[in-house]
Amino acid sequence: MTDSLAPIVAQHYNQIQEKGLEERKQSRIFHMRNLNNWVKSMLIKEFAEKLKEERDRDKKIVLDIGAGKGGDLLKWKKGGIDYLVCADIAETSVEQCKQRYMEMKDRHKRQRERGYCFDAEFITADCTKQRLKDLYQNPDIQFNIVSIQFAFHYCFESLAQARTMLQNVSECLKPGGYFIGTLPDAYEIMKRLEDAEDCTFGNDVYSISFPSKDIPKLFGAKYDFHLEGVVDCPEFLVYFPAFLKLAEEVDLELLYSTPFADYFDEKQKIKEGQFLLTKMQSLETYPPFLKNQVLMGCDDEYYHAKEKLKLITSDKESDKDHVGTLSQSEWEVASMYVVFAFRKKEKTVSA
Ligand SMILES: C[S@@+](CC[C@H](N)C(=O)[O-])C[C@H]1O[C@@H](n2cnc3c(N)ncnc32)[C@H](O)[C@@H]1O
Repeated sequence: MTDSLAPIVAQHYNQIQEKGLEERKQSRIFHMRNLNNWVKSMLIKEFAEKLKEERDRDKKIVLDIGAGKGGDLLKWKKGGIDYLVCADIAETSVEQCKQRYMEMKDRHKRQRERGYCFDAEFITADCTKQRLKDLYQNPDIQFNIVSIQFAFHYCFESLAQARTMLQNVSECLKPGGYFIGTLPDAYEIMKRLEDAEDCTFGNDVYSISFPSKDIPKLFGAKYDFHLEGVVDCPEFLVYFPAFLKLAEEVDLELLYSTPFADYFDEKQKIKEGQFLLTKMQSLETYPPFLKNQVLMGCDDEYYHAKEKLKLITSDKESDKDHVGTLSQSEWEVASMYVVFAFRKKEKTVSA
């Protein structure tokens, strides 16, 4: 048996420096990261609204597994939840997450923002090996939502780790509660591997390297993922039928699993989606709108935008002469992920 790669993953995330907005704006993947955030915002909003519709008088409690530095704190605040537990394997990230939460809470008080700012607790744990119920303050709480954003795939290092992770998700959730997340699409990755000349493929913002082109194992199918200035560490393919089977074993029923591209098409049509896309700067304007705007990629990375523009300008009723887009390289990364949602079965009453 090989040693777990978890310490390497934790060390990688621990050493990532937090960057300010100005520095992030200079990044080649600024818009793609914003688009990822937009997808998470739409997903969190969708399920936070479900909780409101259910009119359950109990407090709305969320568990964020692999919460990292707290990139979703504000999304949960907007979702109007009452309590959040953040867990992550990387100790420094957990500290930064806590710090960010305290700043958010303080700002909320000082600026007398409307509504309520949730209470929270923070746990450093390997959620693929430790039982979370033994770690949070009140083991009796039942969560309405468990969220795992861009982190579930680490548990597919082994069958035992995947089982522990899903056991954690299920036993923390109340019956009828939701399990939501985002993760790399193993089918898309395998398709790209098949099309590649050797075991490495990618573009100028990302690369993926497999040890060989052999059919990967069900668990422990490791590849090295590099994403410009943010990720450089091993990841594991999540074979979706295996994920479904294990989820079923712990009473989690699939609601949907949708590629990012389809999720984007669906959600950008609704008013809130449109509004947030602009607010979060999730798309780049093509051709450049402002005099000093520099395109993220070189001009031939915008072929799709040019085609869309041709269609729009040929429509006499449209007065648009710009489109929102991503460079080809960024889109190739964004389109490598899926959004998923499960629901924990309600308890069946025996006769
Ligand atoms: C790509 S980051 C995502 C962070 C955050 N969810 C977000 O969307 O911004 C993946 C996170 O998963 C965490 N992680 C990886 N393996 C883990 C494990 N075994 N248990 C808990 N967290 C883990 C990492 O430390 C990292 O913070």
